[in-house]
Amino acid sequence: MSEQTAQSQERKKVIFSAIQPTGTITLGNYLGALKNWIKLQEDFNCIYALADLHAITVRQEPAKFRANIYEAYALLLACGVDVEKSLFFIQSHVSTHAQLAWILNCYTQFGELSRMTQFKDKSAKHSDNINAGLFTYPALMAADILLYQADLVPVGADQKQHLELTRNIAERFNGIYGNVFKVPDGYIPKTGARVMSLQEPAKKMSKSDENINSYVAVLDKPEVIMKKFKRAVTDSEACVKYGEGKDGINNLMGIYSAVTGKTYEEIEKEFEGKGYGDFKTAVGEAVVEELRPVQERFSQFIKDKAYLKECYEKSAQIAEKISQRTLDKAVKKIGFVLK
Ligand code: TRP
Repeated sequence: MSEQTAQSQERKKVIFSAIQPTGTITLGNYLGALKNWIKLQEDFNCIYALADLHAITVRQEPAKFRANIYEAYALLLACGVDVEKSLFFIQSHVSTHAQLAWILNCYTQFGELSRMTQFKDKSAKHSDNINAGLFTYPALMAADILLYQADLVPVGADQKQHLELTRNIAERFNGIYGNVFKVPDGYIPKTGARVMSLQEPAKKMSKSDENINSYVAVLDKPEVIMKKFKRAVTDSEACVKYGEGKDGINNLMGIYSAVTGKTYEEIEKEFEGKGYGDFKTAVGEAVVEELRPVQERFSQFIKDKAYLKECYEKSAQIAEKISQRTLDKAVKKIGFVLK
């Protein structure tokens, strides 16, 4: 998107979202968030980022980290993030994020950050590296969002508390200095599946799960996808029907519905009198077909580093300009001497 387009689209509502470029992107990320990111581009002024600054709150192996960033960027383009319609940049390339994050740190209370459940979970999981960044992570996330005066932020349940804190920080800052930041709302899409683990279907599908059979990666080969669905945990009822105590089948139905657009009643009818084996095969095949074009586009993009660079540089330049306006406003209000 050009700066001019960015300006002429100012009447459209602004959406901001970001994803951490760590590890494999799963079918859960794809159906739960990314497919929605693509759709939102039609009606909103979308600003998307790869949150590499957030990612280093947990130790990353440098070569792998860099490869993951390229992979995530290429994969999101392959999914349909369109830099002609939206901005899609790498967070660390836009210096205003770290700058505003520092400022917002000073308007965020120790007590508030201590109550964040993600901080509690992550510091338990990485008890050898409970760094200050892990603690102040939500202030950086608030900076990401507030820099663009975002109206709406699509987030999953795990980020709701951080968004709530972002709203509190914005309101506090505005309360002291007048209207500087737009107070953003969460955006819970009408569609979008919550994809659960294929092995423990009461748990969310996660790329950090130790059991690789529990998740499908968007880049998994077709035969691997089929194998993982065939091994998916179900129940002993052998009846494709949505219901309580049928987490495994409910999850497979959710995935099948998200991919094919079929309703649960249609799915129940389609598999009436058929066993789970047939159903799992059908879900696997539908997912393979859904991901095939994404995988094909990915294999083109990942080879073309020059094209990737062109895309993220163009977006970062525009993002820098837009976000600088907000940063300047905040800096002036605080009482810093302007450069
Ligand atoms: N913290 C988010 C996650 O781990 C990623 C993220 C960073 C984000 N900045 C954001 C999401 C701003 C929404 C808005 O999923």
